Amino acid sequence: MREQLEQLKRDALQAIGEATGEDGLQDIRVKFLGRKGQLTALMKGLGGLAPDERPVVGQLVNSVRDEIETSLEAALLSAREQATIERLKSERIDVTLPGRRDICGTKHPITLVTEEVCDIFASLGFSVAEGPEIEHDWYNFEALNFPPEHPARDMQDTFFVDNNLLLRTHTSPVQIRTMLKQRPPVRIIAPGTVYRCDSDATHSPMFHQIEGLMVDKGVTFGDLKGILTIFTNQLFGQKTGVRLRPSFFPFTEPSAEVDIACVICNGKGCRVCKNSGWLEILGAGMVDPEVYRHVNYDAEDISGFAFGMGIERIAMLKYGIGDMRLLFENDVRFLRQF
Ligand code: DAH
Repeated sequence: MREQLEQLKRDALQAIGEATGEDGLQDIRVKFLGRKGQLTALMKGLGGLAPDERPVVGQLVNSVRDEIETSLEAALLSAREQATIERLKSERIDVTLPGRRDICGTKHPITLVTEEVCDIFASLGFSVAEGPEIEHDWYNFEALNFPPEHPARDMQDTFFVDNNLLLRTHTSPVQIRTMLKQRPPVRIIAPGTVYRCDSDATHSPMFHQIEGLMVDKGVTFGDLKGILTIFTNQLFGQKTGVRLRPSFFPFTEPSAEVDIACVICNGKGCRVCKNSGWLEILGAGMVDPEVYRHVNYDAEDISGFAFGMGIERIAMLKYGIGDMRLLFENDVRFLRQF
């Protein structure tokens, strides 16, 4: 029996040494120490021993069990450790991989230009005014001295809501609204959305304008040219040439169109400026006395100038954008560039 016990111990220790992994070790425990295991089977033979031998062999059984148990525990411990090491190795995080960035939106070029223009005029003492996009005919046309048969009133240009209501075709009605609310001096800038029935690479049925108005005692055409020169120089660069050409608007007299030297070719002549070297960027003029009559200002006492510009056009020139529709398609590949 002693011999059998020694053999069992050697077999068990050898099996433990060769086992791989926790599962294998648990199988060994069952095989040697389990209720139906080899050691239990051997112990059944104890009864057949001489009474004085029983305690001695009993002790031997216990020490064999302890030794197998100890060696199993040690092997289990190191198997678990090994398993942890393997798991950590396979789950290792590569901290050198570039992270995923949150994509942050950017301001739309129309917003950028609007803010820049407003900032320049704010620095010259102008404050921002606003008006409704659905406007009365009276503010949009009548008070601005558009005669009843003026072509701008035509359905082809204007989106009418009904006989009297329309989508404003320009930001000029904000001049009227401001003057009706406020006595001179007035110095406002009015950015906003306007609508005209027109659509191609350089026209959009919805677009943006910025209107300016300055009214006070003794405001002259020289002030108009001075302010607009400061403005264009700040927006397009110090050396940008500026010129005023005679023009006509119903609400200004005299009226002018303001050109800057072409920012694409520096005035040499190119496709964008149609070889003229100049780009038209805004309309302007001295406010017509007929407009003052509609808002109860005394044309004998005060004078002033107004101007209006299209923001899309300025954005296209400033950023070299060839097609206005890009500004409204909201393609992030385009918008991300600003
Ligand atoms: N309202 C004009 C337009 O939409 C632009 C304009 C021209 C505004 C001359 C003005 C101005 O205030 O004085 O074409």
